[in-house]
Amino acid sequence: MRSGLFVMSAGLVALAAACAPPSPETPAAETPSAAEAAAATPRPITLPVSLNAVMVALVDHASEPLWLDAYEPPTTEAGWRAAEHHAYQMAVGGKLIQLAGTGPNDATWVADPKWISMSDEMSAAGMDALAATKAKNVALLNAAGDRLVAACEACHIDYKLGLPSMGIYKSPDYPVPER
Ligand code: HEC
Repeated sequence: MRSGLFVMSAGLVALAAACAPPSPETPAAETPSAAEAAAATPRPITLPVSLNAVMVALVDHASEPLWLDAYEPPTTEAGWRAAEHHAYQMAVGGKLIQLAGTGPNDATWVADPKWISMSDEMSAAGMDALAATKAKNVALLNAAGDRLVAACEACHIDYKLGLPSMGIYKSPDYPVPER
């Protein structure tokens, strides 16, 4: 029954909309909304800093304490939690470095399929580290750290040798004691 709708202003609006003839230009079922169109179009993203800076401030910073050949394994709840956060950073960092930043060679690197697969390998090693930290398993974390370092070295051999590091160096006193 329509009569009930007339007592509410919202009902009036609904009724008016229902009565409006469909516009021939915009058949509702076929034309995507602006939001849908935007979602379907890949958005080009450029990182606000160079990939070199990402290496120093994120990749190196997060990976180093996961490398148990050089660092003590976590022994406390807080230590395992910190390692878990570092593992997340590596897993995501491997995907992040597939986006170019402001470095002069960044765009060339990320356009190279080999760069992408080497970055994916770093991300996969990060996921191994994540599983190890969730299980609090030192042997698994050690294996993940080895896979991680192999991923760094493989890419550096191909892309980094002889390159200037643009004056961005890692902190000599990292990591801070947190275990
Ligand atoms: C997909 C390739 C790739 C992977 C993987 C990669 N790097 Fe890099 N890294 C580079 C390139 C290329 C540069 C040089 C960037 C520049 O100078 O513009 C660099 C620079 C660096 C730098 C700064 C320069 C220096 O020598 O101090 C550090 C530190 C670094 N990487 C650490 C790491 C660590 C640690 C890992 C692994 C956990 C890693 N990188 C994984 C390609 C990679």
